[in-house]
Amino acid sequence: MTYKEMSRDELLKEREAVSAKYDELKAMGLKLDMSRGKPNTEQLDISMEMIDTLSRSHKLAGEQGVDCRNYGVLDGIIEAKRLLSAMIECPVDNIIIYGNSSLNVMYDTVARSMTHGVMGSTPWAKLDKVKFLCPVPGYDRHFAITEFFGIEMINIPMTSTGPDMDMVEDLVSKDKAIKGIWCVPKYSNPSGITYSDETVKRFANLKPAAEDFRIYWDNAYCIHHLYEDRQDHILEILEECEKAGNPDMVFKFCSTSKVTFPGSGIAAISASKANLEFIKKQMSVQTIGHDKLNQLRHARFFGDFNGMLEHMKKHADIIRPKFEAVLDSLDNELGSLDIAEWTRPNGGYFISLDTLDGCAKKVVGMCKEAGVVMTSAGATYPYGKDPHDSNIRIAPTYPTTDELKQACEILVTCVKLASIDKLIEMK
Ligand SMILES: Cc1ncc(COP(=O)(O)O)c(C=O)c1O
Repeated sequence: MTYKEMSRDELLKEREAVSAKYDELKAMGLKLDMSRGKPNTEQLDISMEMIDTLSRSHKLAGEQGVDCRNYGVLDGIIEAKRLLSAMIECPVDNIIIYGNSSLNVMYDTVARSMTHGVMGSTPWAKLDKVKFLCPVPGYDRHFAITEFFGIEMINIPMTSTGPDMDMVEDLVSKDKAIKGIWCVPKYSNPSGITYSDETVKRFANLKPAAEDFRIYWDNAYCIHHLYEDRQDHILEILEECEKAGNPDMVFKFCSTSKVTFPGSGIAAISASKANLEFIKKQMSVQTIGHDKLNQLRHARFFGDFNGMLEHMKKHADIIRPKFEAVLDSLDNELGSLDIAEWTRPNGGYFISLDTLDGCAKKVVGMCKEAGVVMTSAGATYPYGKDPHDSNIRIAPTYPTTDELKQACEILVTCVKLASIDKLIEMK
């Protein structure tokens, strides 16, 4: 019987049992963290050989003869361009290699638009209002950037094929103040959803009222598959935009943060040549060049893109059992109760859990009391406000599988308790 089918008395009886279980788990005094999507130590270890690719006895010149120890090469050495352009699926002429973080590139892109506009448009800071569309649930750090610059954020519901495109098309075509949309098109953070071909085509064919509207296409999880035989694919947006006569409408971002070392990887932006020329003008003031030794390290470690794909299989082998442990727990404990829904991603770093409306904050709070740190409820929405108070992001990669099993036992118990309380209230 589902919880929704239970009478008030049956729910009260169930509450006693679940509550006793919660007290028992709480008494164990656990300290577990399922909050942030970080690779675990075993994952970091598989990239350790990269550190050995450069030493004082190695030739530290790039393929084109550039001495990587010295200044120069603003937009990245050719080896790094080749590697990351294959990763993000764009021609080598359409990419700039940056430093250690793609989030930093996104921040920079918004900051530059605020102060200097986009390819000759009015700087956003001079406008009365600037708005961004935010598919929800989404990545909290995207929303933090736009919030930081005082940009108004509009929620766009996610569907199983990507953001609600009827809404996106309607808003973008009518409102000149809408200057961008945050997208994680593949194995989305946190839902794991991959945009369908139709969604990508509709994005490429948008007719924005604002000439400086850009799609912020954060392909952070482009090669982060969990399975060899179940992999998602997306259409390449830059090419689709070109075909649609909108060549300048997209900025693509990626990094090797979850390929090699987070915080010590290499990041990139890919866009039309006109966009890249505009970006380089700012870059040439900002820096003489990024860390070419790290670019060389990455290029030598992987050899080529196939090397990178082989490496990603090792990551998948490590984290797949963790995702499966979480899904097993959710399926076994909540599968028949009709009080929650969750995603089953083929890749990426997260599982997204939706509780009954009004329960997420309570669940996260109870988990914390019992020693399990989850991402704050609401974090997956602009301004930290989930209008349904229902979404919880689960990050399975960092804890060990045993820790995850314990953490999930606590999580499902909290979901049950909060749901029972909500249903009793409604009876
Ligand atoms: C969608 C998305 N983009 C970007 C990042 C951060 O990338 P980087 O380490 O390259 O700044 C993350 C990290 O969780 C992410 O989930």
